[in-house]
Amino acid sequence: MQIGNVERTRLALLPSPLQELPALSRALGGPRVFVKRDDLTGLALGGNKLRKLEYAMAEALKASSTCVITSGAVQSNHCRLTAAACRVVGLPCHLVLGGSPPEQPGGNLLLDSILGAASMRFVPRTPDQKDPPSRPGPVQHSVDLLRAELEERGERPYVIPNGCRSLHGALGYAPCVREIGCQLHELNLAPDWVVTACGTSSTQCGLILGSELYCGGEARVLGISVSRSGDVLARRIAEGLDEAYALLGRLEPEHEITIHDEYVGPGYGLPTPEMVEAVRLAARLEGLILDPVYTGKAMAGVVDLARKGLFRRGEVVVFLHTGGIPGLFAPEQAASIRDEDEPGYAFP
Ligand SMILES: Cc1ncc(COP(=O)(O)O)c(C=O)c1O
Repeated sequence: MQIGNVERTRLALLPSPLQELPALSRALGGPRVFVKRDDLTGLALGGNKLRKLEYAMAEALKASSTCVITSGAVQSNHCRLTAAACRVVGLPCHLVLGGSPPEQPGGNLLLDSILGAASMRFVPRTPDQKDPPSRPGPVQHSVDLLRAELEERGERPYVIPNGCRSLHGALGYAPCVREIGCQLHELNLAPDWVVTACGTSSTQCGLILGSELYCGGEARVLGISVSRSGDVLARRIAEGLDEAYALLGRLEPEHEITIHDEYVGPGYGLPTPEMVEAVRLAARLEGLILDPVYTGKAMAGVVDLARKGLFRRGEVVVFLHTGGIPGLFAPEQAASIRDEDEPGYAFP
């Protein structure tokens, strides 16, 4: 089977633009850096989840589901985009959010309510709880309860795991590599490296599949973890690739799965000085806005790896902008990046 034959509901505006970053390339002193603008995929302010949700929504419709349940953090980009996708296909969307409701909803949470999520359940974190949880925890428990309640009322809920299934990430993101290849081909170039933030890992799973299917594995895919350890993520990616190759009925090659987990810092969503530097660098050299939780940490990885000489002079590095900008307008994220000592930021 070909990916093009798998059922999909169109949600994203594709292909997303590919843009060269000449000033950042000069500052890093070697590679030619491009950004693949999946923050501009259209629906509800865009982001990487749309390519995956196209497959999840098609599956929900095929199963004659009457509603969707999904989960994530309070500032989940995934939940915002699932709520929007549900609007497009006409299904009510129930959200289970790990964390306490803030006094003033901002960022993604505000958008969830504007999009009219059918319900939002908050699952406050216990003080010793790791974020994201390493095993099914209270959020999953709440999803299971909600599903049972809805089924009791005669509904047929379709449950989308946080970040979407690896298979849907694989199907959604493999064609992104083909897009990158075509866009670079116009410039007589090819991708040497593709770099992404790695959260639940399904985006990276798709990029690896895409490199194998469309670039003979020659575009090396680097994941920069924003939360979990590299081992855990690599295992998940390997499982997702097994599933994708089984569906496509193709012989599976040896995979190169590379994840850098040294840029997470103190934890998911918590700032690091390298993230702050990377966000400022992209903004001030290129006018490119990154978010502190995902793309900022991923860019911190690119900057550090470039400084360490991983990318050779002239090599083409494609940085996947996975979105996440709405979260920047939540007070917690804004506080992690704001610099009150900057000139022009003086309070009277
Ligand atoms: C903006 C943004 N970037 C990157 C990621 C990570 O993608 P993935 O979960 O596929 O690893 C996420 C979601 O987790 C996200 O919201």
